[in-house]
Amino acid sequence: MQQLTDNFHRKFEYLRLSITDECNFKCNYCLPDGYQRTHQKQFLSEAEIKNLVSAFAELGTKKVRITGGEPSLRKDFSSIISTVSNTAGIVKVATTTNGFNLKKNAQNWFDAGLSAINVSVDSLDARTFHLITGKNIFQKVMDGVDAASLAGFSQVKINSVLMKGLNDNNLELFIDWIKEQPIQLRFIELMQTGDNSDFFNKYHISGQSIKEKLLNAGWIQKVRSSHDGPAQVFTHSDYQGEIGLIMPYSKNFCENCNRLRVSSLGRLHLCLFGEEGIDLRDLLSSPDDKEKLKARIIASLGDKKISHYLALGQTGGTPHLASIGG
Ligand code: 5AD
Ligand code: SF4
Repeated sequence: MQQLTDNFHRKFEYLRLSITDECNFKCNYCLPDGYQRTHQKQFLSEAEIKNLVSAFAELGTKKVRITGGEPSLRKDFSSIISTVSNTAGIVKVATTTNGFNLKKNAQNWFDAGLSAINVSVDSLDARTFHLITGKNIFQKVMDGVDAASLAGFSQVKINSVLMKGLNDNNLELFIDWIKEQPIQLRFIELMQTGDNSDFFNKYHISGQSIKEKLLNAGWIQKVRSSHDGPAQVFTHSDYQGEIGLIMPYSKNFCENCNRLRVSSLGRLHLCLFGEEGIDLRDLLSSPDDKEKLKARIIASLGDKKISHYLALGQTGGTPHLASIGG
């Protein structure tokens, strides 16, 4: 079996595949004015997704995360989950959702072959949730999280973007929540993108202070295994849940990079904060192009940089994370 590696000996077994850049939320750090369609192109079809994932699987990809925008806005979302999970070599299919359709569909998605789910919940206070996302549906999203646990997902993950003064003051509330629930709560440092510089400067806060609070309260940092991503994970014997910290501005963050991204228009992105991506779409419509597709992916990896240049304020070609799925 071929293995995707780059010039820095990093191995890539994880693909994040965006299937739409559309979203129905207006998160203040991502799409404050809501989604505006800036192109007339069609998103990848199911057939294209099948060919793409099959090529990646033959290059050693084992896990696929289906992202957006909001992936569940696609009518064929369940069917895409089945297609991806039925691809030989793919052992894990995950998704990241804003939770809007979760309550209604958690069971369908689980039954279609989804193995893991991340839900964005930036605040446990309903009004702050509304303020951040533009949607007054905090309870519906929380019911969705419960529905996901009931449907059979063993550890639901919750993503929460840290914002100074907005949600960094209710850490206790968050931590109490996971006392009796096997949830992994992931605090993500706000990242600067092309569109959100002013917002970033106002609200960015480092995860370091949370790390210190956790360590002082007896949380213990888990040892990383070789296929873990960049999150630092903490556990505590009194809590069923875990806490993850994602600190893209910390030193060595990119050392553990294990992922590649493909946008909903079929461009391969070597880094979230890289340039405009390598077009793969001309090789996606026919399964006969699979060898050419694999060759293009392998050749592209030679250009993957050692790290992002966020510390220099270089956000690359990414206007907001809805465009390539975070
Ligand atoms: N910084 C950090 N996280 C972000 N997300 C979206 N935009 C940003 C940003 N600028 C997160 C969302 C969601 C995931 C898909 O990416 O909150 O959890
Ligand atoms: Fe939508 Fe996710 Fe962006 Fe929020 S962060 S607007 S849910 S794509």
